[in-house]
Amino acid sequence: MNRVLVSGGCGFLGSHLVDSLLLRADVERVVVIDNLWTGALANLAHVSDSRLFIEICDVERFATADRFDEVIHMASPASPPWYMREPLRVIRANVEGALNLLNLLRPGGRFCFTSTSEVYGDPLVSPQPESYRGSVDCTGPRSSYDESKRCTEALLFESQRVSGLDIRVVRLFNAYGPRTRADDGRAVSNFISQALTSRMLTVHGDGLQTRSWGYVDDIIEALARFFWRDACEYRGPLNVGNNREVSVLDVATHITKLLPGTRIKFMPPVPQDPTNRRPDLTIMKRVLPGWTADVPYEEGVRRTLDWFRLQMAARESAIRYEEDRRMAV
Ligand SMILES: NC(=O)c1ccc[n+]([C@@H]2O[C@H](COP(=O)([O-])OP(=O)(O)OC[C@H]3O[C@@H](n4cnc5c(N)ncnc54)[C@H](O)[C@@H]3O)[C@@H](O)[C@H]2O)c1
Repeated sequence: MNRVLVSGGCGFLGSHLVDSLLLRADVERVVVIDNLWTGALANLAHVSDSRLFIEICDVERFATADRFDEVIHMASPASPPWYMREPLRVIRANVEGALNLLNLLRPGGRFCFTSTSEVYGDPLVSPQPESYRGSVDCTGPRSSYDESKRCTEALLFESQRVSGLDIRVVRLFNAYGPRTRADDGRAVSNFISQALTSRMLTVHGDGLQTRSWGYVDDIIEALARFFWRDACEYRGPLNVGNNREVSVLDVATHITKLLPGTRIKFMPPVPQDPTNRRPDLTIMKRVLPGWTADVPYEEGVRRTLDWFRLQMAARESAIRYEEDRRMAV
């Protein structure tokens, strides 16, 4: 039976991965380490499985006498506005977090890490294969995130080379879906929450910058297969994402069609916002045969919108209930 530690398990992707881990019969315990910086306990409130333990703690400080068979290190904000605000904290979460968690892995255990397509920077080749070394500015405003992911990759690949550490490293491209924060700041959730509140979507620059939008269910399926389900020799880095390239403006326009009456406002570009992002999935096809990002953005955006609507309705009814209760006292 396996003991699994997930750092960042109260976040958007982490909480979905925890759901998937708890479907495993060979898991004895799942320990989530999260400081609730960008995550929320609400993301795991639906879980009643007694194998789940949540520790509210910085990953770089977490200490225990327990040792784990699998460590999945996801603690780090992924949203640019959040990571740009507190760069030192981002570097600590990724690099110091990984160094700390390595001590908690039992000998022979597996260390999995969610790196990012941001290691490719503003890429000069498209699509980006894992062999592309990137066009990154180590003094730029995104560097705390890009470089701490690169440094953690170096730490893990070097540990594998020198001491045979069993690792799995993915480079995630843009993911979206239910359980993203309303104030997350990334395009899809931003547009949806703006559409539902102010009815005005803000697009930075001309909106022609492209991304590959991966719906959460597809992304989690790839992580589950690569991290524990499939027996594969390849250790990474593995690009994970949808290789259908769609512009930010197309996504915004799609949302205005789903919510008539909403409009788009153009704002100045975000500094060093990459012009394009699209994964080369050649290695993915070999390592996880049959995996595809099945959910098209049109469908994924609709599902995410439904989820945001439900969340808003639940919040409003909680507020109404609280007001009625106060009036009755
Ligand atoms: N979502 C994406 O599109 C995407 C793309 C590329 C890479 N990734 C990577 O995937 C992982 C998860 O991303 P996400 O979208 O779920 O982000 P998220 O912000 O929703 O989740 C991150 C979680 O980590 C926690 N956390 C942050 N710093 C911590 C620390 N020092 N100690 C303990 N907990 C800490 C947060 O509270 C949060 O629960 C991250 O490593 C991110 O870099 C995500």
